[in-house]
Formats: sequence, C-alpha cells, structure tokens
Amino acid sequence: MNIVLGVGGGIAAYKSALLLRLFTEAGHAVTVIPTDASTKFVGVATWEALSGRPVTNNVFDSVDQVNHVRIGHEADLIVVAPATADLLAKAAGGHANDLLTTTLLMARGPVLFAPAMHTEMWQHASTVANVALLRSRGVHVLDPAVGRLTGPDTGPGRLPEPEAIFAAAMALVDGSCAVTHDAGSPAPAATPASAVPAASGPLAGKRVLITAGGTREPLDPVRYLGNKSSGKQGVALAEAALAAGAAVTLIHAPMEVPAPAGATIQRIETALELRAATLAAAATADVVIMAAAVADFRPSTISTGKIKKRDDTADPVIALVRNPDILVEVVAHRAARNQVQLIVGFAAETGDDRADARSYAREKLVRKGCDLLVVNEVGPGESGSERVFGQDNNQVEILALDGAGPVQAAGSKREVADAVVLLLAQRLAAR
Ligand code: C5P
Repeated sequence: MNIVLGVGGGIAAYKSALLLRLFTEAGHAVTVIPTDASTKFVGVATWEALSGRPVTNNVFDSVDQVNHVRIGHEADLIVVAPATADLLAKAAGGHANDLLTTTLLMARGPVLFAPAMHTEMWQHASTVANVALLRSRGVHVLDPAVGRLTGPDTGPGRLPEPEAIFAAAMALVDGSCAVTHDAGSPAPAATPASAVPAASGPLAGKRVLITAGGTREPLDPVRYLGNKSSGKQGVALAEAALAAGAAVTLIHAPMEVPAPAGATIQRIETALELRAATLAAAATADVVIMAAAVADFRPSTISTGKIKKRDDTADPVIALVRNPDILVEVVAHRAARNQVQLIVGFAAETGDDRADARSYAREKLVRKGCDLLVVNEVGPGESGSERVFGQDNNQVEILALDGAGPVQAAGSKREVADAVVLLLAQRLAAR
C-alpha cells in the first residue's frame, strides 16, 4: 500500500519516526512529507533514511513529475502525525501552500489526523470547529491522548502512541472501520438491535465483550509459551455481566474453568488469533473488558517439526517478536470510528523501590488509553504464596482515566466482577 505520512511541526514529530517504522515493517511504501516547521524537530535526512525515499515539502521540487498531483493520487492512505492546530486549520480551510497541504487536497483515499498540541489549543473554539468540519467531511481525526505534555502541563493533547495511530490507520483501510465521522455521533451498530436478547438488569440491552484466559504461543507442534492465567476472573466477569442482563461474548484462550452458559463463546489460542477475534467483535460492543493475559512476545518462527533434543548440537535459542497490544488497538479503533464504548483493561502489577504498584498502573492506564484499569498486585503475599493467579479470591483497585475513584473491591472473583459491572452500569447510565 502507498502511504503518505505528513509530519507537522510539533515536538512529537520524533514519535512519527516510530510510526514510519511500523508502516515500513508491515510492508508499506511510505512517502514522508514534513512541513517546513517540523524539520526544526526532525530533519529531512532522518525521513529519507527511514523511508528509503526522497523527501521534500516543496511543490517546486521535481516540477516535471507534478509531485503534488501524483503523490495525492497514488496515496491509498494519508496519515498526518503530529497534526498541529495550524495543519488542522489549513486542511479545514482548504489551503494549498506547500506539498503536504496540496497533497491533502488531491487525495481521494482515507485521511487520518493524529493531533498533538497543548490542551488550550486543542480545546480552543477554532480547533474544535476545524475538527468538527473535517469529521463532517469524512476525514478521521483521532482524539489526542491525555497525559504529560511538553512543558509541566498535563491534559488532552499528547500524540497518541505510534502503535495506536498505526492500528487506527490500518483499521481505515482493512474495511473493519469504514465509518465516517458525523461530528460527535456514535457509529451505528452493525448488528441489529433485535440480536440483543430482551433482559432486565442494569446492563440490559448492552453488548459486552470479554476476553479471558492466557494465550499460548506455539514453538513447535507440541510446545508453547504460556502464562499463569486461569481465566477465573474473566469467566466471573462474563457471569456477572450475564446476570446484569447483558448479551455477552466471551473470547477466551485456554482456561482452567469452563466457559459460562448463556454467553456467545469463541475459543482462540494465540495473541494474534485473539487480536483478530477481538477487533472484529469490538466493532459492535458497548463494553469491552480485556481480562485475557496476552503474551507480550511470541516465537519469531514456529518449527513445523518437534524441536529435537540432541547431544551433538548446541542448545536451541528462541528468538521472540513483540505481539501487538490489542487493548491499545481497541482504543484506537473506537476513536477512529467515533464509537461510544467503554473499554476496561486489567493490569497485574508489582511495586519496586522506585514506585508502588498504583503509580505503575496509572502510567499504564494513560499509555493504553482505556477508560478503566482493574489493577491487582501480583506476586507472593504475606504467606509467601501467590496472591492472584489461579486463586478464587482477588483484591483490586479500579482506576479511571478521567480521574474518578479509585474504587477498591475485594472478595471472590465473582464479587470483584460484580463491582466492575456495577461501575460500568453507573457509567453507561450517566452518559
Ligand atoms: O501491558 P500489560 O500486559 O500489563 O497490560 C495488560 C492489559 O492489556 C490487559 O487488559 C491485557 O488484556 C491487555 N493486553 C493486550 N495486548 C497485549 C498485552 C496486554 O490487549 N499484547
């Protein structure tokens, strides 16, 4: 696929180098068009080296090739990251005074803006109006992430993480996200309302997607890399959501407990299978709860035959590659669709001498961008035995991205699940 990566003049321009890497590693040809201001942050040489292509923002370079027409026509997708307030204004106003803005006017494929600016600029009436205008024309504008900005200030305005922009961009072209942005209106559900069983309870009429269990990443036909997740907390959540009247889909990796009756069940093994199933099902979910323990890495190759133990050869070394962060992708897809959805992540944390488990969890909540993060402190408790994995009880703290709470819950995994479901019902009712 031919991708144009427009880079605006903000400090976050350096993060676009990582985004460019994600595109090229996925096999796409990328033409980078940095604005003049952005080259004060990241130089043309960096973009040329990373993209393997010549880079300019001058319409008068290679005039014989009519670049501003050709690049726009050939682009299957244009991603602008970081999109400054100035670039959003220019795009909304139809300006065409450099190669990036003319290319944006020529483009007929999907366009994705990933804004980054100080909170005041993002919330200024001009920017709000420009974003609404662009969205009303079918242009996709991600909401910026919330968190630390360039100076001492924090708030909405951070460039979303490169993985999230990448996921949102891919969602635009793989057809799973062919939804236009009518300023502020939620995406229509693809499943007819009649598919949701009539039930009573605080989640009646809601579709809840839950992932559970621990993924298995195969090494060869008989071995895999796994983790300690029993699936008990995910199953308890499914039971609690069913009891609250929701239509529940449970996508689960191997578990020690049976899946509950009454839910739609999809069984998967690997993180990549979980990703495909989750992103598809999330398109129509009102709530997504990512309780699965997803392997962060998988073996880079899967041996077709059993890896042999031989005395005359060296011990095998297993090379690993990183799995995609599904939770981050679910958040990005929601933003790209302008979908109204509550997203809950789980975090098993340990503290150390630098910070406690809650501080690490808060960092994770901001990085992932989900609405709620259910945090449990893992590792040996006072008795020396494991506190959470495989146990029937749990003790959690539920952190909210909007700063509410935190809410504590303790007891059986079902009691903890009931507390999460109650919080979700309250948040859905408040919308
Ligand atoms: O980064 P960490 O694994 O601690 O994050 C935990 C949360 O992120 C859980 O909700 C888990 O389901 C989700 N996750 C994911 N994809 C990954 C790793 C974790 O969705 N590759």
